Amino acid sequence: MSTRVPLPYTPKVLELFRNPKNLGKIDNPDAFAQAGSPACGDVIRIYLKISRKNKEDLIEDARFESYGCAANIAAASTLTEMIKGKTTREAWEIGWNEVADQLGGLPPIKRHCSILAVGGLRRAIRHYYKENRPDWLPSDLTIAEKQALEEEEIIERLYGGKIAKK
Ligand code: FES
Repeated sequence: MSTRVPLPYTPKVLELFRNPKNLGKIDNPDAFAQAGSPACGDVIRIYLKISRKNKEDLIEDARFESYGCAANIAAASTLTEMIKGKTTREAWEIGWNEVADQLGGLPPIKRHCSILAVGGLRRAIRHYYKENRPDWLPSDLTIAEKQALEEEEIIERLYGGKIAKK
């Protein structure tokens, strides 16, 4: 008999894990980034389609691929829903805790799964502006980006995997 105790996921997390929205890639995305490490399997890829309208960059479509856990899949599903139709600036300002709130909360041990999703999104947005950084985009890495980076470094030390830092 298994002695493992099921994690206290909310019904929303379980529903989105079973039926994630925006799963898959976008061909020829305007922005793309990966966060996590293929070495341990906790990897998320974010794809964005962005168009310029009224001097704003609008996220027309957002999709993801996740090789993370149920919480990561649910977080990425929610995050991609939240950013569709928003400007890149609005999307940038979404924090991991807002994503977790939308899910009805995450077990403390699973908060990093939401951080990884937000870190991936911010990396994609940063990548999009790599030639021409707007004023609102901080030149220094944000906490979510640093945490995603730290997690990758820990995983790399543990597993010796190669990390894609797009
Ligand atoms: S993404 Fe690593 S445990 Fe959820």
